[in-house]
Amino acid sequence: MHKIIQQLEKKRAQAKQGGGEARIETQHAKGKLTARERIEVLLDQGSFEEWDIFVEHRCTDFGMQDKAIPGDGVVTGYGTINGRLVFIYSQDFTVFGGSLSEAHAEKICKVMDQAMKVGAPIIGISDSGGARIQEGVASLGGYAEVFQRNVLASGVVPQISLVMGPCAGGAVYSPAITDFIFMVEDSAYMFVTGPDVVKTVTHEEVSAEDLGGSTTHTSRSGVAALAFENDVQTLLMTRRFFNFLPSNNRDGPPHRSSDDSPTRTEKSLDTLIPDNPNRPYDIKEIIGKVVDEGDFFELQSNYAKNIIIGFARMQGNSVGFVANQPMVLAGCLDINASIKAARFVRFCDAFNIPIITLVDVPGFMPGTAQEYGGIIKHGAKLLYAYAECTVPKITLITRKAYGGAYDVMASKHLRGDVNLAWPSAEIAVMGPKGAVEIIFREEAKDAAAIKARTEEYREKFANPFVAGRRGYIDDVIFPRDTRKRLCRSLAMLRNKKLENPWRKHGNIPL
Ligand code: HXC
Repeated sequence: MHKIIQQLEKKRAQAKQGGGEARIETQHAKGKLTARERIEVLLDQGSFEEWDIFVEHRCTDFGMQDKAIPGDGVVTGYGTINGRLVFIYSQDFTVFGGSLSEAHAEKICKVMDQAMKVGAPIIGISDSGGARIQEGVASLGGYAEVFQRNVLASGVVPQISLVMGPCAGGAVYSPAITDFIFMVEDSAYMFVTGPDVVKTVTHEEVSAEDLGGSTTHTSRSGVAALAFENDVQTLLMTRRFFNFLPSNNRDGPPHRSSDDSPTRTEKSLDTLIPDNPNRPYDIKEIIGKVVDEGDFFELQSNYAKNIIIGFARMQGNSVGFVANQPMVLAGCLDINASIKAARFVRFCDAFNIPIITLVDVPGFMPGTAQEYGGIIKHGAKLLYAYAECTVPKITLITRKAYGGAYDVMASKHLRGDVNLAWPSAEIAVMGPKGAVEIIFREEAKDAAAIKARTEEYREKFANPFVAGRRGYIDDVIFPRDTRKRLCRSLAMLRNKKLENPWRKHGNIPL
């Protein structure tokens, strides 16, 4: 018996060496951790249970029969993050460049299937040269098996992708389907076709970093939610992020006790809105001042900055925030902002996370670029997402809520549960100047008359009381009481039940 135990120890130790010392050194020289080191940082100490450490590929072409390495380029299993179960796979670049073989894909599918059965999130770490070239179509089949599971898991268990090395070709579509992608600066890149193919086909010269590095995907394409400086920071931030998410779509959001009083008032909010309605202010200041301990985990912070999305806690419970940002494009809704917020609203709705919407929006962004780009279709995504959503929805209008954007931003008419406004709110079809120029066109040349009309319009409509009289706004509140009112509303809504009519699925304007 002693001998077999020793043999097992040896076999395990060998398997844990992956592609061997030299390749591990190369990995470290690139500033990257190995697949196993990453798991160690990500999971609670000692919690990792590895599966399929002895799995090898079955390829016999191109001399591969002599080149089997246990594990076959991906480390899989489960463990915990702050005590909560999570399934994980981590591609091992030291073994055949982390490339995906049939067996490698089977390992990933096994943990995904199990995560679905027990209702636990899945975190996938990508660091791979793509399809195992020696395996041809078997590898492509393996990818599709993973994609299929990503789609079935969508909205059932949270899926997070950490791109920590190359992720190219069709391989990008697994992370793309997952809920959130985090990348590592400088060492991660994602593209459907690499710089060489781009050069051949379109004659464009572009580096891998410019084509698909973390800056590109966090600020231009919006593919990735966030990027962090290095492997360790990415993994530690993922642990923090994980704490906001429920384990599955039947779970409530996780609770973390907080000493921050739900009745805490914040006097400085009474003077946050500038007297001049055209002057910006930072909507994030409101979020920071009302959430538990000021802890706000912003997502896509470098993309479509005219809208803010992210998670925080109120009385210890996770909530999703969506907020127009007056500091950028005056908080207008454009194509990118609509898509960014819509997907976030759908994530919260799928996973029972209440949504707080802060509104200061002068309208949809005008212009040919927006119209030709399909702002009608993309703006409709946000409208659709809010209208379909059944989780608690609380809306606070801080200043402007004009036109269609008023409707879209979780208005009462889209089943907003609690719709509040600050006294500075202006709720109308459009801003006073634009409105007067249209309805009093005949007085356009008379500057004094227009000024008087503008003032009249402002008096009449640029306030929250017209909407308040109709019950579209449940109350006009003192800004300093915002936290208290939000916490109470959330508590009141804790047992909210609302179901949409049965259907196979809706047809969101994609
Ligand atoms: C088999 C691969 C591999 C692959 C890398 N390796 N990619 N083995 N299949 N796809 C092996 C290398 O042979 C090498 O083995 C080791 O991994 C490390 O690779 P290097 O090239 O030395 O590393 P580096 O210089 O860092 O370059 C990394 C790389 C490069 C840029 C990813 O390896 C590369 O271009 N690989 C091929 C990428 C590719 O074309 N993949 C197929 C894309 S099509 P040794 O033994 O020397 O250590 C695709 C379709 C997916 O993926 C479709 C899904 C639907």
